[in-house]
Amino acid sequence: MGRTLVAGGAGFLGAHLVRRLATKTQVVVVDDLSAGQTSVLEEFKALGVTTLVMDCRETKALVAALQSGDTLDRIIHLAANSDIRRSALEPEIELNKTFETTVSLLAVAAALGCNEFIFASSSAVYGDWPGQRLSELTPCRPISYYGAAKLASEAFIAAAVHNQPLAACILRLPNVIGSGMTHGVLVDFVEKLRRDPRVLSILGDGSQRKSFLLVDEVVDVMVLPGIVPTLGVSTYNVAVDDNLSIQEVARIVLRELRLKDVTISCGTSPNGWVGDVRWYLMDGSSLALQGWRAQRSSSEAVTAAIRQLGGLEGFASAKA
Ligand SMILES: NC(=O)c1ccc[n+]([C@@H]2O[C@H](COP(=O)([O-])OP(=O)(O)OC[C@H]3O[C@@H](n4cnc5c(N)ncnc54)[C@H](O)[C@@H]3O)[C@@H](O)[C@H]2O)c1
Repeated sequence: MGRTLVAGGAGFLGAHLVRRLATKTQVVVVDDLSAGQTSVLEEFKALGVTTLVMDCRETKALVAALQSGDTLDRIIHLAANSDIRRSALEPEIELNKTFETTVSLLAVAAALGCNEFIFASSSAVYGDWPGQRLSELTPCRPISYYGAAKLASEAFIAAAVHNQPLAACILRLPNVIGSGMTHGVLVDFVEKLRRDPRVLSILGDGSQRKSFLLVDEVVDVMVLPGIVPTLGVSTYNVAVDDNLSIQEVARIVLRELRLKDVTISCGTSPNGWVGDVRWYLMDGSSLALQGWRAQRSSSEAVTAAIRQLGGLEGFASAKA
């Protein structure tokens, strides 16, 4: 059996995926640790996972590092910028970290004869579609540079399958949550409550509605047999059947943390930050045909994530 390369494998989602994959196949992780956690590296070692601490845009060096050993069967590409608020002010971050990582990893696949590619895309490719259920055929009109770089990556992958012996699967993920998470609204809330347990301030007016999925369920999709087609590219929404307002998320967090008499303070803008999508809800029927449906609603996922994290102290440190 050949190897699987997980790019961005030391990140939140990557660590969960690597733990699952390592029991079944040889795994190599490449991560520059710009956002990944060094704490998982010892664990990876114990699991027999090889970790290359390097930037996956260093195409030649990465090819050289992977050249010896068993064949490279599959690349799972999770490496990207996760600080979407920051890239609103510095769009080149998305060019470098979200788009160029994709271009480089496609070149690595071509150089090493790897012909299966999975890409962690995002609901952010759609932009704002209030009140609509988004199918994979809904036009993509991203409103953040992050969403734009994910969409540009998707386009490059779609072209690559015509230019090299490659088949690819693109997964458009909702908000992914669970143990080990380091960013996102739950981490933001917990960080604020640690600083001041009397007030929880929400970015935007709190009416923004998003879907939430537990990280284990995302891993289930990534390891589904047949998720990578034999030819061409398949694009799937990894959908949850409902969405939750950020105010509802805040109430679940306070309930689960058993915090009383907390004032929820909302802003006035309908968006949390420039580029924040106000409303999305994806349709999951394409992936249902592959045998996968989300097991939990968004509120069940948020509740489960807070319980998994074990209270205020269970969260890793948040990034800005
Ligand atoms: N977490 C979510 O809610 C969510 C939602 C939609 C899509 N996604 C996508 O899923 C993927 C994983 O998300 P995550 O939450 O685990 O993010 P994360 O930031 O925790 O993980 C990304 C990893 O990529 C690494 N990385 C970044 N640039 C790199 C580079 N040039 N070379 C090598 N490593 C690099 C980082 O160090 C980090 O470990 C990302 O592509 C993200 O855009 C995540």
